Formats: sequence, structure tokens, C-alpha cells
Amino acid sequence: MDKLIITGGTSLNGEVAISGAKNAALPILCASLLTAEPLHLINLPHLNDISTMLRLLAQMGVGVTLDGPAGLVLDGGGLNNPLAPYDLVKTMRASILVLGPLVARCGEARVSLPGGCAIGARPVDQHIKGLQAMGAEVTVEAGYVHAKAKRLKGARICTDMVTVTGTENLMMAAVLADGETIIENAAREPEVVDLANCLVSMGAQISGAGTDVIRIRGVERLSGANHRIMPDRIETGTYLCAAAATGGDVRLTQTSAAYLDAVVDKLMDAGCEITTERDAIRLKAPQRLKAVSLRTAPYPAFPTDMQAQFMAINAVADGVSTIRETIFENRFMHANELQRLGADIQIEGSNAIVRGVSHLEGATVMATDLRASASLVIAGLVAQGETTIDRIYHLDRGYERIEEKLSKLGAKVRRAH
Ligand code: EPZ
Repeated sequence: MDKLIITGGTSLNGEVAISGAKNAALPILCASLLTAEPLHLINLPHLNDISTMLRLLAQMGVGVTLDGPAGLVLDGGGLNNPLAPYDLVKTMRASILVLGPLVARCGEARVSLPGGCAIGARPVDQHIKGLQAMGAEVTVEAGYVHAKAKRLKGARICTDMVTVTGTENLMMAAVLADGETIIENAAREPEVVDLANCLVSMGAQISGAGTDVIRIRGVERLSGANHRIMPDRIETGTYLCAAAATGGDVRLTQTSAAYLDAVVDKLMDAGCEITTERDAIRLKAPQRLKAVSLRTAPYPAFPTDMQAQFMAINAVADGVSTIRETIFENRFMHANELQRLGADIQIEGSNAIVRGVSHLEGATVMATDLRASASLVIAGLVAQGETTIDRIYHLDRGYERIEEKLSKLGAKVRRAH
């Protein structure tokens, strides 16, 4: 298994380009199932999760043609197998996003239950409840969700909690339904809006995306379209945190601060100077950061996907901070690994109390999930001496060419096999 070896102590300086958003690209790739015409996407990130989704779509009969370094043409015309098998779904939970589009386009779907993952049980009951409200017959047997519907009917759905992929799945199910669907308590994440924009360019009738009430009026069919994937706001936030922790000065291009207000606010509270341009953001770090408490919550509040990275910052900041995780029940696994590097962190239920220390010492640590891995990279960049991070396949799921981008900013990092 690959590992990253980082020699800490150098600050990050310079400029690097941000890739397309993984969590926008994944549902938008599934939108190709909704039409028999070609869907042309650009600004796709080169990530393992994207490759897994493309394998999943191809085995259903979707044509996948590369079109330039970050472009693809997806052709749903050949869709002939509405099945998402366990061996693919178990490696990437977001595979559940094919469920809604398959029922909408083919009238049936068999999708393996994604099962839990390191950060939590991750049930999909809201996805199923919403499809049933739209008239689908849904059974769960032998680890698969079987859903059938001659044609879905518009319905009013209020999810029990804010669910990002739940909102996305139901929105894609509704675009070809008979009548109007209203999704209340909808997720407001920018990736939901990017998906809605792509669906509208394909001929869908959607209003309210980005608010907690989304209205979808079903149409008979969708056409192909061209769509550019939005920038990855979590990759952006991760590099901002790395620059902040190492006392650096970086400028990130092909991105924007537009969707990162909560993270930018916390970085400024920590003492960073942040300037924003139309499609770039620059951060200059102070000599030493101030500890900053935070609480994760659905957008536009502080994103759970940035919690681990901020814990790494607080581990070496001046003062004591409390991090409260309200979305997932087991998203503090990076804490144990940060403690191996010398961090002073106490976990009390869904709270982590972090006492900033003057420095961290390099050690061998293990990645447990995608964003925990990013947290360990940030800590390794700061720690004195050498840090080895094992199981970085987690990292490769969500960060494109991370050692190349970090090296460009002056980090001493290399991949070992
Ligand atoms: C999406 O996951 C993201 N993944 C996650 O990013 C992100 O952490 C999460 O949203 C929260 O922002 C993608 O977009 C591919 P949820 P998702 O449904 O949709 C519970 C990353 O690092 N819930 O919004 O699976 C659930 O257990 C990943 O890139 C139910 O109980 O998250 C959780 O506690 C990690 N039943 C909460 O809701 C359901 O049917 C929010 O989950 C659905 C969700």
C-alpha cells in the first residue's frame, strides 16, 4: 500500500490550481443516466472515486469517452443494465446516487446497499422514503435495494434530516416524474446547486436549489448538455488550512471563496489574512495561529468535511479550542493519530477539546478516512522531522495529485510504495 513521507517544518508558499469538485462531479456523472443523449462534462477531477463511478456507469451500458485532460462525454443511450453491484458500491458509498436516476429512466433499479464506513453508519433510509413517496415499490433484500415504478409521481417530501446525496437522489428521480415534487428540508450545499444547474441545462424544470425547499416539475425526457464542474471548495479549504498551519502565503487559482464563508471566517479568527479575487483566493498566515472553536452543521455553516483539517490547525495553535461534530457519529478518528504526533486532544462524546502545543514530532500514522488523511498531511507538514502516513488510498479518493501540488508550494513530500 502506498504511503506518503513528509519532512515537516517548511512553510507553504506560491500558487496552485484547485481541481473540480468531487462531490459535485459524482452526482452529475449519474445525471447521464437520465438521458439518451450525450452529456459533455469539463473540469472533472482525476480521483479514484471518479474512476469508480465511471466503471459503475460503464457496466450499466453508459458510453464513456475521454475529451481532453479533464473532459468526458457520457452517453446514456446504451443504458441496458440498471444494476449497481456490491463489489463496486462497497468501495464508494456515493454509488447510491444511481438509484434515483435509474428508477426515473428505466422504471427499476437494483443497487447494493452502501453499508457503513469509517465515519458512521451512513444509512440511506431517506433516499428510500422519498422514492416510496413518489410511488416506487422498494424492497431491501440480500443487501440490495430493489426499486420499481412504471412512472414516478410528483410528491411533497420532507426529509427527517438534511441529507446531501438524499436531496440529490430525489431531485434526479423527480425530473422525469409525472407532476411536481417539492423537497422540503433540502440540503443547501453548493454541490446540490451545481447538480441542479446541470439538470436544468438538460431541460429539467427546477427552482429553489440552494434553499431548503426545492421544486421540480417533471418533464417527458431530458436532452444532452455541456457542463463545467464547480471548483472543489473542500480541496480549497484544505490547502488554506495547510498554508495557515505552516505559516505560509499561498494563492489558490481556479476556485473562489464564494462557498467557504464559514471556513474563511474561522481562518481569519485564527489570525490569517485572506484576500479574494473572482476565481482565486490568497491566504497569508500569522507567525502563530490563535485556537478557534467550531461546530459543524449543514451548509452554509462550518462543513463537516473541514473538521479534521481544522483540528490539525488547532493542535498547534495558541490556546484551547472545542470542536463539535454534529453530522457524523464517528468522525474523530484522526484525533488518535494526531496524538501520536504529540497533539493534546480529549474526546468527550461529539466534542473534541484541543490544547495547542508548541510543536508536533514526526511519527508513523495511519489514514482512516478521506478527510482524516488530509488532517494528518497538514500535521506532518508542521511536525518536526519525518512523518509517514500509511493507507493513503483514502487520500487518493478525494485529492488530485496531492504530493505534486504540495511540492509545488515548497513542501518536502514524496510517495513511497
Ligand atoms: C455527503 O455525504 C458528502 N459526500 C460527504 O462528503 C459529506 O461529509 C456529507 O454529505 C455531509 O456534508 C458526497 O457528497 C458524495 P448526508 P452524504 O446524507 O450525502 C444521516 C467527503 O469527505 N442520514 O448529508 O452521505 C447520515 O448518517 C464525504 O467528501 C441518514 O440518517 O451525507 C449523516 O449523519 C464524506 N439517513 C447525516 O444524515 C439518510 O438516508 C448527513 O448525511 C441519509 C443521511
